[in-house]
Amino acid sequence: MNNYPEYNASIIVTDNLEEELGKIISHYPQDKIFLVTEDNCELQCISLIINTPGFANFKKVVLPAGEENKKLSSVEKIWLFLSQNGADRKSLVVNLGGGMLTDLGSFAASTIKRGMDFVNIPTTLLAQVDASVGGKTGFNFNGLKNEIGVINQPVSVLIDTRFLRTIDKPNLVSGYAEMIKHGLINSKDHLDEVRKFDLNNPDYDSLRGIIARSVAIKDSFVFKDPFEKNIRKALNFGHTIGHAFESFALESENPLLHGYAVAFGMIAELYLSHKVCNLPLAIVADLSNWLFDIYGHFAPEENQFEKLFGLMTHDKKNEGARINFTLIPAIGEVAINQNCDKNLVFEALDFIRNFNR
Ligand SMILES: NC(=O)c1ccc[n+]([C@@H]2O[C@H](COP(=O)([O-])OP(=O)(O)OC[C@H]3O[C@@H](n4cnc5c(N)ncnc54)[C@H](O)[C@@H]3O)[C@@H](O)[C@H]2O)c1
Ligand SMILES: [Zn+2]
Repeated sequence: MNNYPEYNASIIVTDNLEEELGKIISHYPQDKIFLVTEDNCELQCISLIINTPGFANFKKVVLPAGEENKKLSSVEKIWLFLSQNGADRKSLVVNLGGGMLTDLGSFAASTIKRGMDFVNIPTTLLAQVDASVGGKTGFNFNGLKNEIGVINQPVSVLIDTRFLRTIDKPNLVSGYAEMIKHGLINSKDHLDEVRKFDLNNPDYDSLRGIIARSVAIKDSFVFKDPFEKNIRKALNFGHTIGHAFESFALESENPLLHGYAVAFGMIAELYLSHKVCNLPLAIVADLSNWLFDIYGHFAPEENQFEKLFGLMTHDKKNEGARINFTLIPAIGEVAINQNCDKNLVFEALDFIRNFNR
């Protein structure tokens, strides 16, 4: 079944980045373009936009890189920079960076002077296929991920795979998990093409098409349900258990990259999909083998199950104490709002713990 959804014109996957950015900024006064980036991207990424017409007039703020800097003081730094440099409601903020930066820059632009236009130029695979699209913005607060934020859409998202040449392998593999998720929830064709992609020898030209189709899947769910009242929850597949693994790893000071946590979360939720929605066990086994091959060994201890379950009940996507899952009855299909009880969740954790490779 080829069911790639309609492509949203504001998401542009391009090998002509400077021309595309030039077209967008031509709608704004030249002295009202503000570049927000972080220090790694200042070194590795700015060179790909430096020849944009008018670039010399961009005013720029550079934040410290890293998830630990996704915090209020960084937002304040952007607000101050915009405020002191005469930004107004006719201005454009250009966010250049991974998901940490696009989340922060989008939030700052969305909130200053009751909202300013912004463009995202994502520079990691995770940000290209996921974080920069969909309008979720924000920062970490009070020890909680993305605790403060708003949903507000960018004017445009410009995706160029040349940025990916400088990201490290774990970050490439992390973003790849979200493409796998898009295939699982929406399209077997997409899953197949993602599976054929050689992560050890990445061909960035062919990756351009794969990213375009992957991001179009995310965008189609966002378009139908921007505020996640119903079908956008499809995108949470693998994330309920994945977030628990991610938070647990963070507390034990042995952090897991987001995509790795989601990959292991997907294995557990594939098992739940078998139990609750009759996804055939042979498919669960095949996909689990493949995911373990890419993401490596992962086996939560039995004495961690209670804690993991507690983290799932605190996930902000749950209503009350029920654990609400998005599951897949078949590859390319979703069932949202599937409640699972504690015994079944423990069974799924056991499945991942005992998986016989
Ligand atoms: N808004 C959403 O819908 C959404 C969805 C998923 C994830 N997120 C957020 O995204 C963040 C994770 O994003 P991420 O994985 O991109 O992390 P990140 O932005 O921290 O980037 C990972 C690392 O790669 C570096 N980097 C970025 N681009 C590079 C490049 N081209 N070359 C070399 N190094 C580069 C960064 O400096 C950083 O060290 C989290 O904060 C998460 O909450 C948001
Ligand atoms: Zn994710």
